[in-house]
This record gives sequence, structure tokens and C-alpha cells, in this order.
Amino acid sequence: MLKFIGDAILVKFTDRKKAQKCSNELIDKNKEFKNLKTSFKTFSISIKIVLASGKWKEFILGSEKRADIFLSGNIFRAIAENEKNIETDVIKDIGIIPSTKYLQDKIKVNKLITPLSFLPIDLLSIASEISFGEHRPVSCLFIKVTGYEIENPDFDILDNFFLNLMEIVEKYQGFLQLTDNVQSEGCKIFILFGAPVSYGNDVFRAVQSGIEIMNIQEKYKSLSIAVSINSGYVFAGMIGDERRRKYTVIGDVVNTASRLVDTLNPGEIVVSKDVYRLTSRYMEYKKIDSVKVKGKEQEVERYIPEEIKDQIIYEYSFIGRNEEREIIINNLVKGNRFIYIKGDAGIGKTRLIDEIEKEIVLKDFTIIRAKAESLKQAYGIFAEMIQKMSGIEESDSGEEKKNKLQNYLNKFSGEIKKHFILILPILGKILFNIDYQESIYNQLSPEIRKENLLDGIRYFIEMHIEPICVVIDDFHFSKNEDIEALNFLSRTLILLSKKKISFFISSRPDSRELTTDKKIDRVEIELEPLCEKLVEKLILNILGGKPLENDLYNLLLSRTSGNPLYIEQFLLYMIEKNLIVLKDDSWIRCSAYREDDLPESLFSIILARIDQLQEKIKQSIRLASIVGIEFKEDIIEKIMERNVHLELQSAENEGIIDFKNRLELEYIFSHSLIREVIYESILNENRKILHRLVGQIIEDIYKTNIHSNSPFLL
Ligand SMILES: Nc1ncnc2c1ncn2[C@@H]1O[C@H](COP(=O)(O)OP(=O)(O)OP(=O)(O)O)[C@@H](O)[C@H]1O
Ligand SMILES: [Mg+2]
Repeated sequence: MLKFIGDAILVKFTDRKKAQKCSNELIDKNKEFKNLKTSFKTFSISIKIVLASGKWKEFILGSEKRADIFLSGNIFRAIAENEKNIETDVIKDIGIIPSTKYLQDKIKVNKLITPLSFLPIDLLSIASEISFGEHRPVSCLFIKVTGYEIENPDFDILDNFFLNLMEIVEKYQGFLQLTDNVQSEGCKIFILFGAPVSYGNDVFRAVQSGIEIMNIQEKYKSLSIAVSINSGYVFAGMIGDERRRKYTVIGDVVNTASRLVDTLNPGEIVVSKDVYRLTSRYMEYKKIDSVKVKGKEQEVERYIPEEIKDQIIYEYSFIGRNEEREIIINNLVKGNRFIYIKGDAGIGKTRLIDEIEKEIVLKDFTIIRAKAESLKQAYGIFAEMIQKMSGIEESDSGEEKKNKLQNYLNKFSGEIKKHFILILPILGKILFNIDYQESIYNQLSPEIRKENLLDGIRYFIEMHIEPICVVIDDFHFSKNEDIEALNFLSRTLILLSKKKISFFISSRPDSRELTTDKKIDRVEIELEPLCEKLVEKLILNILGGKPLENDLYNLLLSRTSGNPLYIEQFLLYMIEKNLIVLKDDSWIRCSAYREDDLPESLFSIILARIDQLQEKIKQSIRLASIVGIEFKEDIIEKIMERNVHLELQSAENEGIIDFKNRLELEYIFSHSLIREVIYESILNENRKILHRLVGQIIEDIYKTNIHSNSPFLL
């Protein structure tokens, strides 16, 4: 098997007769896959076979880190074109395809490629343990590459392009799914975001990388590229058996993304309506004409991403949080505090920071703010602080960065600035890769460089006009080096500096502890869900002051449990998908409304947290989701046939589950949506098996006392 291309397989034979025999057997075998009855509906699987002989080229593109086989030749064009025009369940033998400029088959061997180079890192760490297929939201990015000669492609250009592409994909934590060479023109490259591992903001990362991919077009003038992005739910998992397995995503979302790229001219990038909906908060878009694509009744809407919005504009006014706001402002005004707000994803940490920032700006605070991100390297948050304050752009050259920093420094005077200037060549090199003449950077040991770097960051913050507030949002994404650095900075700046300096940090639940010196005044605030009254207000705000039908309101209340992001995402999803409509001045549900509909954005955010768990822990948690919102350790243990205490402990540390009763080892999912997402991600078929298993075990355990535990019975 040469390639598994989504819904197609490319197989190479050295003997034509065997290929013909194999084709016949496949058509025959497929008769067994007609009228497959499932609980959902009756399916039929159809296949088409195109048989061709000829010569082609095989290259290995990429590096040791990530490589793929690239095929090129007239034969693939012929296969692609014929496949389009034949009926299902037939074999079309198109004979020998002549190759005009055939040169020798060339496999580039001067690379350090190993079998592992063909597998992405994300998958490597979990591949051996993946036992379930999953239902999950993903973003699919297709790149159509044309412009090269199919019979005689320039290997070096393609290889450099591919290497460049992989750099971008890696930066945005995408996943090269496949290079599809069976095309009538050029090839298609499929990059996946959100599977096998989700990082929570997968759709936006797909769009950002799409824009960056378009930008490298400049460098490869002989190639033409176009990009399309679509997102939604797919089946994701390993298919095949021990002889040959592949991680695959299957679904309409993938097909539509692929068809969408076919509608584009070279140099164009478009996203689908779902991508637009999920990212329009961060990104400016221009809508262009919709198109008809194969396999879709309705025209597909298309949007061109233009630029990232500078600022997220909140559409709904801020509500509640008075007490927290007061405590934080009072402490900031007193100064020299370490304020730490913790809370679940979407509970309102960033929003609270934004509101407080607005207030303290009026009190003449200098605010130095950054945001930890999983994409950032160690010390990246501190680089961001310096970058933002001095107006440096990512795309600036080294010289420009140096000048901007210098201009910024010119605004300051005094001893602290002098200290900073002494360290600048070392800090500049580490954080921005700027070369300074006569820098002693090269003579320093890594340990001393790090000490200098930390001192540099310290002086940078300290040289500003007091009162100073250092804000770091999303600290749970920080690297371990950042925790250590923050510890040093808070100690030196809060305890030793003569200036009024405070730190204001936000984080989701994090199993790593963020310690501070005992002498520091530390204020810790746990943000709780909004109370019912505020939820009602928020819902009204989002729905433009018009109320929601009563039972929908109650449903929303119970599903979102006072989490503002969940409330907002649910409502927007329901409006945009036309699941609710405004009628006679109130919002009512439409016939298409399904109780188990979950907005993809929430699904990804929650899955991202689950994906960070080790596979073993994930398995236990999946099973727990089958048992219900509450579950006992002994049930999980019985089914898993192993001690799961430490696994559940980790899940508890990560805030996925809470203790309901510590003595009885009884747990509860920390949010009903967390349970729902895990449950929904399990495929129907597996769910049924697991339910049966859980039922049996519960019966066994509680044989004598079945009624008192009956809520567990499913
Ligand atoms: N008190 C509030 N009043 C109105 N809207 C709110 C409030 N709190 C949060 N929201 C809204 O809910 C959404 C999620 O809030 P926010 O982004 O602040 O969450 P977060 O805790 O920072 O989440 P994450 O951990 O994902 O960063 C935002 O759109 C925000 O505007
Ligand atoms: Mg936030």
C-alpha cells in the first residue's frame, strides 16, 4: 500500500496480473458491505477501482523529524481523472500510461530519514495505546500545490517548500495527515488541527497557519498554492490491523475542505462558514461568493481571512464580580502584592483582568502584560512583555528590533536602566536573537546566561514608572522555566525593589504548584461560577434583551452551570445554527434542535484538557463517563482490572473530577459538560459495549443491595 488517502487507497503491484486479481476480489468482497444495518441507518459501501500501469517518481520530502512520500507522474493524473467519471462498483482498467520525460526513479537517500520520521510526534506518544476511535471536532486545512512539472518536478524546490511548511505546521501544532498525489493537477497536502491532540484553540491556529503558509508563497515563485480550511466533527482513530494501521479522520468536514480548495485560484485562501463562526472574534474576514461543491446540496459559504484583530471587543457588558474586583483593586493600590486568580476555562479570568486593567490605567499604573501560550517557548512570556512595551513586531529584522528597543530605552533614565543596558546584549540575544557587537554572550556558560537573563527581565520591569502591575494571563500554559522565573521575579521585585510593583497572575487548575516567597503578601482568589441571577442577566444580554423559552432556559442553566463562556458559546451556536429563533419577542427552539448538540468550541476546549492526560488516565475517565456524572473508584477498578487510584488522583489534580466523598472514594465530574464531552467522544458502538460492561459489574458488586445504588444502573 503506497498511500491511504482519506477515502481512497493507492496500491502498488509489481505484477499486473496480481493487481487485476486483487481488484476482482475487492469488488467481490465488497458485496458483503451492502445494506449494513446500524442503529442509525442502513448503509451501503461502494467502491471504484482504477487500474493503471506506468512509471512514476517517488521522493521522500522532509527531514528526520517529519517526512512523507511524494509521488509524481502522469499515471496519477490519469487515475484521478478516470476515477471521477466511472460508476461505482466497477473496475476501470486504463492500461499503460506513457511517461514522457521519464528520468530514473529517485529516492533521495542523503537524508537521515527513519521509519519514525513518517509519524508525527503527537501520535508517537499515544499510538501504542490508542484503543478507541473517537468522535471529536477538528479543523482541516488543505493546501493545493500546483505549478511544478508532474513528469519532472524540481525535487529541491518541493523539498524546501515542504520543510518550510512543516516548520509552520509544527509551530501551530498542526499534524501532517497526508500528501495526496492522485490529483489531476499538482498535489494536495492535508494538515489536521485538533487531533490526535487538541490544544483548545485549534480552529484559530489552523487559520493563523494558513495565513503564514500563504506568505511563504513569495519564496517559491515556481509553485502556486491555495489553502482552504473547514472545521467540525469527525471520526478520528486508528484504522487497520497489526499489519498496517493508520491514524485517520473521516467525515464530511474533511471532504468539504478538500473540495473547497478545488474551487480556488492559485494564491487564494478561504475558510468555511463554521471556521468563520468560530474565529470571527479574533480575525477580520471578507465574505466572497458561495460555491457549489460535489456531494453538497447547499452552496458552501466562503470567507477570506484578512488580519488578526488587535483587540477582542466584548459585545456584552461585564456583570457581577464586584467583591473580587474590589479586593484586587485595593490590593493593587496598596502595592507589592502577588495576586493569583484561579478558575476553570471560561469562568471569566481574562475578562476580569481586562476590567481591572481599565480601572488601574486611570490610576496611572504602568501595566506590563503578557499571556502564556502552549506555542510559546520558555521565557516567551517575558519576551512578549518587552516586545509589546517597545513596539517590536515579530516580523521586524534584528536591526529593527535593536533600534526599537533602543528608542524605548531612551525614554528612561536612572540606575536601573543602566543595569538593564549592561545586560541587554545577553537578553537581546536570548529572547530576540539580536546580535550585539562586543557581546560577551558566547563566553558565558548556560547557567550564567540564564542568571543574566532573569536579572535583565527584572531590571526591565523595574525601570518603569511606579506603580507597576505585571499581568500574566493563562499561566497554566507556562513552561517550567517560567514558573522558576516568576518565583525569582516576584521575590526580587516585590520584596527588594523600592518601587511599588505587583504581580497579577491568572491560571486554570494546574497540578504544578506556583510557590512564592513566604514573606510576600499573596492574595489568592478562586473564581466561582456565576449565580443564577447573573446567568439570567448574561443570557438576556447575549440575546439582545429578549428572553429564552422557559424549558430551554432551564436546560441551558443546568448544562452550563454558571460558566459564562459555556453560556455564551451555547447561545451563539444555537443562534447561528438556527436551532433557536426569535418569535413574538422571545427565543424559541426549532425542530432541528437536539438536546445533545454541543458547540464545537466547547468540545475542543474541554477535549484539550482531556488530551493532556496520559492515555491510561484517559481510559479510566472515559469509563467513568459511562458510569455517570458520579462514580466510585471500585467500579472503574473492577472493569479496568488494575489499580486506578493514582490515575483518578491525577484527574482530580487537573480539575477534571472532584471528590464527592473522599472516604468512600466517590468522585464527581467537576462539570457536567466535561463528562458529556468525554461521553460524546466515545463512538456509539463502543459506548454500547461499555454500558453493558458497567451494568454487569455494578450488578456484581451490589448484588445484595441493588436498589440503593440503582442510580448507577444504566
Ligand atoms: N462577569 C462577566 N460578565 C460578562 N461576561 C463575562 C463575564 N465573565 C466572563 N464573561 C464572558 O465569558 C467569556 C469567557 O470569559 P474569559 O475569556 O474571561 O474566561 P477565562 O476564565 O479567561 O477562560 P480561559 O481559561 O479559557 O482563558 C468571555 O466572552 C467573557 O466576555
Ligand atoms: Mg482567559
